[in-house]
Order: sequence, then C-alpha cells, then structure tokens
Amino acid sequence: MYRLLIAVVAGLLALASTAHGQAFPSKQITLVVPFAAGGPTDTLARIMAERMSRTLGQTVIVDNTTGAAGTVGVGRVARAAPDGYTIGIGHWSTHVVNPAVYQLNYDVLKDFEPLGLIATNPQIVAVRNGFPAANLQELAAYVKANPDKVTAGTAGVGAASHVAGVYFEQKTGGKLRFIPYRGAGPAMQDLMAGQIDMIFDQAANSIPQIKAGKIRGFAITAKTRLAAMPDIPTVDEAGAPGLYIAIWHGLWAPKGTPKDVTAKLTTAILEALTDAQVRERFAALGQDIPAPAQQTPEALAAHHKAEADLWWPLIKAAGIKIE
Ligand code: MLT
Repeated sequence: MYRLLIAVVAGLLALASTAHGQAFPSKQITLVVPFAAGGPTDTLARIMAERMSRTLGQTVIVDNTTGAAGTVGVGRVARAAPDGYTIGIGHWSTHVVNPAVYQLNYDVLKDFEPLGLIATNPQIVAVRNGFPAANLQELAAYVKANPDKVTAGTAGVGAASHVAGVYFEQKTGGKLRFIPYRGAGPAMQDLMAGQIDMIFDQAANSIPQIKAGKIRGFAITAKTRLAAMPDIPTVDEAGAPGLYIAIWHGLWAPKGTPKDVTAKLTTAILEALTDAQVRERFAALGQDIPAPAQQTPEALAAHHKAEADLWWPLIKAAGIKIE
C-alpha cells in the first residue's frame, strides 16, 4: 500500500513537472529593471518586454526596483523564485562593476541563469544647454579650473555614469561633483532643467534629448562615431583619447530556473532581436545588436566572465568607493 502511494505521488509529481514545462508561461512575467523609469535600461527593457510578450503569449511587465546603482533590483532577482516569472535586465555596471564596489549578498557569476545578450551602446558626454563650454576640451579645461564645482549626474556610486566620470577625472586631471540619482532617467530630467551641469550617459538616453536640442553632446566613448549621431566626435577626436566605455545589456533568471523555462525565455529574446521594428528602435538609440551567435545564454556567460576578469582589477585600482 505504502509503495503504491509512493508510486502514485511520484507519478503525479512527474506529471506536474511536465505540465509546468508545457504550461510556462501561464501568467504574467515580471522583468525587473534595477534603475528608474525613463532611463536607458528601462527604455531597452520596455522594447524587449513588449516584443517578448508576443512570443510568450503572456504580458511581460516592467518593474523598476531601484537603488544603490542597481544592486537592490539585481538582488531581488537573485532571491526570486526560480520559476521564470521574475527575470532581470542588467548591464556592464550592475553585473561587472558593482561586485568590485559593493559588498553584495549575491554572486553575479553564480546566482543567475543567463538568458541572452541584447545590445551594447557607448556613452555620450553631454552638458546642459548654457554650460560655458563648446566642446570636450573646453569642458575638461573648465572642470580643471573649477575643482569640485561642475555637477555630474550619476545613476549611483559604481554606475556606468559614475565610473566614466572617474575615468574622465583621471584622464583630464579635473575633479567633478557627482550627484547620485536612482537612474539616468531622473538625472536626465535634471540636466534638461539645468539643475546639474553634465552627465556621462548611455547613448540610449541621451540621443533623443540631443536631437531635440535639450542638451548638447560633446563626445562618444568609443573608437568610432555612432551611426545614429554621426556629428558627435569620438573621445579620441574630441581630446580625451582612450576614454572608452561600452555598456552591454543582458537578461538573466534566478539560478535554478528549469532549462525548459529558460529556453522559452531565450527564444522570446532571440525572436525580439530579429524583429525589424525592435532592430530599428535599437539602432535609433545607438544600440549595437550582437551577431546571433553572441546573443545566446552561453555567449552571455562567456562575455560576462571575460568582462569581470578584465574590469575587476581596474575598478578596484580606480578606488571607487561608496561614500
Ligand atoms: C539607467 O537606466 O539608469 C542606467 O542604466 C544607469 C547607468 O548608466 O548606469
């Protein structure tokens, strides 16, 4: 009798697990954005969520869980139930820089299942309208002549916008006053309103505002100009050679999410990245979508590890600290 009961329970469990695999997703999925709404990560997440919803047959909703340069939101994903219904988007600074700056209660390399690498963009060094500099060299000279006076908005200590600023200080010998926000979205609002002087911001966030004439862009943190903003010189051309920062975004699920579930999520990501409208919207935001072989979970895992190996010693040496 006892044996029979065990066999029945085992059978039911097997059935439930198959049904779970077949049924996923049976309800809406939450995509955690670890920065404020309206910023670059949020913008990319919403484009992806909309297209992924079509493939998955369930709504993918974006939830902005903000704070401490993305560590609050990424931590939420690390601790979420590994069932595919809570996934996260992150990038170079959340998944590479933060572990070198913060004491984290999660491990970026071990506590997540990679789902896909979606796109990379450089930053644009941008200033408010009316700021007394007409180009990058004049900006650098002004910062040097006015130590600790020029305000630079960041998405938190260790965020890409902050790391680029520290890098800029090291290259130009100036000293900025960093103003942390819950994301580059609110920092951009303050830049447009003239409340802060400048920002090192992802192209996705700056391009629309530069095009609208609400801020000015002085340089691209890359070796080549951006097709979406061809008039803006590279840092090499503008006078801060080598100040390269490339921010790649990826999506992850909590560690232990079943393979059949992650496979469905990855399929939705890869389909989104082949969609002509998604590609067009990404291109207009200065995003470089990797080749299909580089979009896969395996490619994201390899890229993530290589970036950690490259940047951890550099970030630690730069002495970026939570103040
Ligand atoms: C954001 O969405 O606010 C950004 O990803 C912040 C950053 O550039 O680090």
